[in-house]
Amino acid sequence: MRIIGLVTLSLFLVFTGALARDKAAPLEGTSNGLALTPPMGWNSWNKFACNVNEKIIRAQADAMAASGMRDAGYQYIVIDDCWQGTRDKNGNISADPVRFPSGMRKLADYVHSKGLKFGIYSDAGDKTCGGRPGTRGHEYQDARTYAAWHVDYLKFDWCNVGTENAQAAYLLMSRALQATGRPIVFSMCEWGDNTPWLWARNIGNLWRTTGDIYDAWEGHNANGYSIGMLNIVDMQADLWPYAGPGHWNDPDMLEVGNGGMTDGEYRAHFSLWAILAAPLIAGNDLSAMSDETKAILMNREVIAVDQDALGVEGRRVAKDGDDEVWARPIGGGGRAVVLLNRSMQPHAITVTWRELEYPDGLSAAVRDLWKHADLPKAAGAFTAEVQGHGVVMVTLKP
Ligand code: GLA
Repeated sequence: MRIIGLVTLSLFLVFTGALARDKAAPLEGTSNGLALTPPMGWNSWNKFACNVNEKIIRAQADAMAASGMRDAGYQYIVIDDCWQGTRDKNGNISADPVRFPSGMRKLADYVHSKGLKFGIYSDAGDKTCGGRPGTRGHEYQDARTYAAWHVDYLKFDWCNVGTENAQAAYLLMSRALQATGRPIVFSMCEWGDNTPWLWARNIGNLWRTTGDIYDAWEGHNANGYSIGMLNIVDMQADLWPYAGPGHWNDPDMLEVGNGGMTDGEYRAHFSLWAILAAPLIAGNDLSAMSDETKAILMNREVIAVDQDALGVEGRRVAKDGDDEVWARPIGGGGRAVVLLNRSMQPHAITVTWRELEYPDGLSAAVRDLWKHADLPKAAGAFTAEVQGHGVVMVTLKP
């Protein structure tokens, strides 16, 4: 009787202890202390897709340094899909020897020599989306290989995963990266299918929230999977509570400079990404940029909003048909505001102080971030004429 009692008591203690542990411990993958502001860099996919090679990557690193982008805050050069060759008999992954004959370590050294950081891509499944070897079953091994190559950033995709559980798969890779001891930003790419904003805060530094971006103002491309810029923006409207320093919603990489939108539309794209505290990962050919593309990607006033240290993601605070107001708090009690005109005609759009949670009588300095000009002080509301398919972006400082 006494023995049965003791067994029951210890079972009870083990059970309640386990429960208590479950409640107390969040899923800890990476507490890597990285990406305290949204990552900034370049990724090969939007422009080059599978046609990557080391010459292209070196040219992008050269251009990021020479164009002034590095000095404006861009840091990571990330090779997306299709860099992989095969695994050797021990399961070690290597780079495609035709496209990357010098190997990944040499390429990383080159990128680092430009004062930049080096990123790479893999997939949680058996194969990547482009059909190259995936990481499933090789998580710790691949993480060790990347660390030996001096990789600083990993984008981890979600093709060919069968019935895998996303939370478990990303946690496993997060721990594998952490175990290397090398600081590696972990970029999760499961397209928002499993609501990662609800669980990935301690697993990844950023997580995609949608399918792939399509280089168009609005709509879908032929495969129906890639979606236009504004379709993506609409899907971010309620996600602001989940972002913050070290863990960001990722509405996908930039299309600025790729030719599918007008410069005015690209200004809107860049402004909205900044309001959303989105990673600013350029996706164009940095070695062949127009002056206007450079002016957009290197608008330091807009970048400063994206990189604001408070790290509070913006949201849509007003909508009246095609006229929208998006806003986020910035340091010092200020607000960054985007007046968005989705129509083809010019519209006057107003933001009221009430929408910004300001007292009506408050007077604020207004700065136009695209005209690079101070406007007259405003109180109670601010109105501007906004061109069709365009934005006016301002900061307000009381
Ligand atoms: C998926 C991702 C893209 C890109 C490709 C590569 O579609 O969402 O960003 O990485 O795979 O194949």
